Amino acid sequence: LFFILNQIYRPKTSENLKNIHQNSGIILQLDLETALEECNVALHLFLNNRFADALSSLEPRKSHSMYHAMGYSSILLMQAAMTFDPKDMDVAMASLKEALHTCQRFRRKTGIMESLASFWHGQPFDNLTEEEMHAELCYAEVLMQKAALTFLDESVISFIKGGMGMRSSYLIYKNCQAMENVIEDGEKERNTHIHFRGGVNMGIGSFNLILSMLPSRVLRLMEFLGFSGDREFGLSQLREGAASNSLRSILSTLTLLMFHLYMSVILGTGEGNLPEAEALLKPYADKYPNGALMLFYTARIAVLKGNFTFAQEKFLACIATQEEWRQIHHLCFWELMWAYSFEQNWTEAYRYADCLCKENKWSQATYVFQKAAILSMLPEEEVAKTGENVVALFRQVDGLRLRIAGKSIPTEKFAAKKAQRYAPPKPLKLVVPALEMMYVWNGFMVVGKRPELTEGILSTLEAAEEQLRSDPDPSEFHTDDVCVVQMLKGLCLTQLGRLVQAEICFNFVISREKDIKHDTYLVPFTMYELGLLHKLKGDINTAITVIEKAKMNYRDYSMESRLHFRIHAVLNTMGSFEAKLPPSRT
Ligand SMILES: *[C@@H]1O[C@H](CO)[C@@H](O)[C@H](O)[C@H]1NC(C)=O
Ligand SMILES: *[C@@H]1O[C@H](CO)[C@@H](O)[C@H](O)[C@H]1NC(C)=O
Ligand SMILES: *[C@@H]1O[C@H](CO)[C@@H](O)[C@H](O)[C@H]1NC(C)=O
Repeated sequence: LFFILNQIYRPKTSENLKNIHQNSGIILQLDLETALEECNVALHLFLNNRFADALSSLEPRKSHSMYHAMGYSSILLMQAAMTFDPKDMDVAMASLKEALHTCQRFRRKTGIMESLASFWHGQPFDNLTEEEMHAELCYAEVLMQKAALTFLDESVISFIKGGMGMRSSYLIYKNCQAMENVIEDGEKERNTHIHFRGGVNMGIGSFNLILSMLPSRVLRLMEFLGFSGDREFGLSQLREGAASNSLRSILSTLTLLMFHLYMSVILGTGEGNLPEAEALLKPYADKYPNGALMLFYTARIAVLKGNFTFAQEKFLACIATQEEWRQIHHLCFWELMWAYSFEQNWTEAYRYADCLCKENKWSQATYVFQKAAILSMLPEEEVAKTGENVVALFRQVDGLRLRIAGKSIPTEKFAAKKAQRYAPPKPLKLVVPALEMMYVWNGFMVVGKRPELTEGILSTLEAAEEQLRSDPDPSEFHTDDVCVVQMLKGLCLTQLGRLVQAEICFNFVISREKDIKHDTYLVPFTMYELGLLHKLKGDINTAITVIEKAKMNYRDYSMESRLHFRIHAVLNTMGSFEAKLPPSRT
């Protein structure tokens, strides 16, 4: 219904706007090719860290050219997403709405009958001109950005609105894709067409890739709503987009990098495709050696390779290269905090956690928890030097939590739950909170690239184990604490290839299921890790059984959806393994 109404109401506004446009804007109207060239110049400025210059170069024509409008509002959206400041969000929203209007003017006017007919026949956009095709694409892009911004607003209504926006955007992309498939060869040779094709690759690719990561029960619902989530197809579209020489190649590239370097690590099996990421980044890193984005991704690749020293240098270079967008510094602080945590250099890690607490607004609860957790790893006299009060920090966490779309953020909820142990007058200390958080972000996979550092972490865990064993007055959290340590030990041992010992640790945690009072997340997560261990040993059937058990038998524990993402990812890899077996085995 929403779709039909949308179609029916479109023509009128479109016509009005076109009239206004024709009366007032003729002189400023640009042909498509010039607009694309100017946007390319702005993009060049942007990648050279000249963010304000890029914005002001697009500003004069933003009401008359869809590409200027789209570029302008995209930069503002990025800024808003980075600062999280309500004022910036309002500015971005206003400019996205204006950009929608600008794009709308260039779209084909359709009558009611025409749009109903096209709705039934599923081929709404017959024989559009090149400019009209670009208008569809830009419209879909801006619509997607507007929906993304709507999601950040804090109510349930905006969540639904965001969802509808995403859906409309996706449908237009699908139409664009259909147009691209039937278009004649002559058309394809136009200079501007390559940019259309690149845009379709980017949009369709991103939608498919992101949806393919969703756990199956969500994915099924999304597919019911008309989305498709085919990972391989999404990747191939993005690769094609990245390889094309179009305005949006960089966006396809950045999406692929995001996928390999973040999403696969945090929500997947932890094995991003690093060689591909390096190859994708190289041309841009060569062309923009001081570009903040390039330095950042170069450093991130080094982190995932276990080359922390090099990564630290590059993150510092990324901070030094520009001052305009402070938020990029914050991303670097976050990464530096982890890079030093992997080395167990807690003093340095604390420094960056503290910077985040002081400067960034994304998730104060996480930062304060993280800072307190890191301080808990330091000896008392070191903590005294910093002048911080660890207990007071933990007590702040709960009050700092955010709500997005009426829901709390899982990591914040997790942190707040852990921090509760500091609420009573006589706090019951957490054992190895910083290492536990490292697991939450899948850090053991990363540090596993460096056996000597993994050994170091293992020693820390063994010391904690010893301390718990000799505890004269075990608290109600004793079993939970022992199990946290055993699970983390199992992870280190797995990384070190000591699989038999690792399995003992994991089985210990699973056997204590009935005695674990608070950290109920431990059992399903440990079961998942045990499944990965069986997979590593080559015992795929046991792996699948154990992981399915983790998926089916547990509910309502911390970070449940994160585990479901990881389970979905790993079952996918094993599914494809099975498919390759000869038929007689299956
Ligand atoms: C679209 O163009 C083709 C060939 O250029 C033509 O045969 C067809 O009738 C056109 N369709 C519409 C709806 O105008
Ligand atoms: C880290 O990466 C840099 C640059 O790629 C390289 O020169 C250096 O040898 C690497 N160091 C280690 C320990 O791998
Ligand atoms: C921690 O890192 C800093 C900066 O790289 C270095 O100076 C210091 O020696 C390191 N400390 C430890 C204990 O490794």
